[in-house]
Amino acid sequence: MKINQWSQKVHEPGKPCYILGIETSCDETSVAVVRDGVEILSNVVSSQVDIHKRFGGVVPEIASRRHVEGITVILQEALDTAKLTLDDVSAIAVTYGPGLVGALLVGVSAAKSIAFAKGIPLIGVHHIAGHIYANRLVKEMQFPLLSLVVSGGHTELVYMKEHGSFDILGQTRDDAAGEAYDKVARSLSLPYPGGPHIDRLAHVGKPSIPFPRSWLEAGSYDFSFSGLKSAVLNALHNAQQRGETLEPADVAASFQASVVEVLVEKTFRAVKEYDVKQLLLAGGVAANQGLRNELLKRSETENVDLVIPPLSLCTDNAAMIAAAGYIKFQKGEFAELDLNAVPGLPLS
Ligand code: KG4
Ligand code: ZN
Repeated sequence: MKINQWSQKVHEPGKPCYILGIETSCDETSVAVVRDGVEILSNVVSSQVDIHKRFGGVVPEIASRRHVEGITVILQEALDTAKLTLDDVSAIAVTYGPGLVGALLVGVSAAKSIAFAKGIPLIGVHHIAGHIYANRLVKEMQFPLLSLVVSGGHTELVYMKEHGSFDILGQTRDDAAGEAYDKVARSLSLPYPGGPHIDRLAHVGKPSIPFPRSWLEAGSYDFSFSGLKSAVLNALHNAQQRGETLEPADVAASFQASVVEVLVEKTFRAVKEYDVKQLLLAGGVAANQGLRNELLKRSETENVDLVIPPLSLCTDNAAMIAAAGYIKFQKGEFAELDLNAVPGLPLS
């Protein structure tokens, strides 16, 4: 196994492997310890949502500063909860992209500093690989598999033929699913992040407004949500001009029905075409009850092995980064000290 030149640590086969995960790509500062890639010993998440809420979205400068202020305290809490010290850590896995550059740099700098100071191997992890590997904390992966990734910045159908191999079958051509949720929520004067508020409202409203479904060309696994977002804004605007108001819960239910129908339909089409053994759901929008329910129903009728992480592992957290890092650890894919933040890091 190739280990960084500056790291003296050699992992003894048969001994437990403790991966320290660090995640700071957006507005959650998180540190976790995961044993042998699957067992969470600690997963401390400090969310900045309350700070960014008043601005209606994440303010990058503020996010970076809060990560700097919190990272050492959160690191210590994660180690204390796991009842370990840095001397026990087998490797440090850190998100190095994609994300906000200033935010990513805080995690990357912290990880490199600790790795160098303590001679611990360093691993760079792709944020979306982390979201996908959150599923391995729930159930062992069966290949080939398909993962529907739906987050604030990404909407992708990812095919994996083996660990660490990611082929993007389709992705959004404009807004990510979470982004569309947040924008529609804002037009309904709901607080940031809007996804959970729309989800809650959707369950009390009726999907009575016929918003468009964006199927794109026949056979395409790409997505597009900007047309739907515009349709919602137009409907609200037109109603306002007529001196009427649309019931926000009905708008939410109708919007969610369109998003969920397209996501689920394309996902199951890919499940069939690529004949996968397992379907995973990943990313912040995986917390959406409407999407979870629909995927569960379809997977039962079509007899598909569906894995959905618990809510705490859907949104950004460091346990998923440690879980993805473990695969790179096993493959000997370590980073050097020139590891840098890459805001637009590609997955495949
Ligand atoms: O994965 P994530 O925590 O951050 C990124 O990597 O982007 O995802 C955050 C996104 C936000 O857009 C948020 O509104 C959305 O996930 N989200 C939801 C729900 N919970 C969070 N969207 C729809 N329904 C939810 N229940
Ligand atoms: Zn994320």
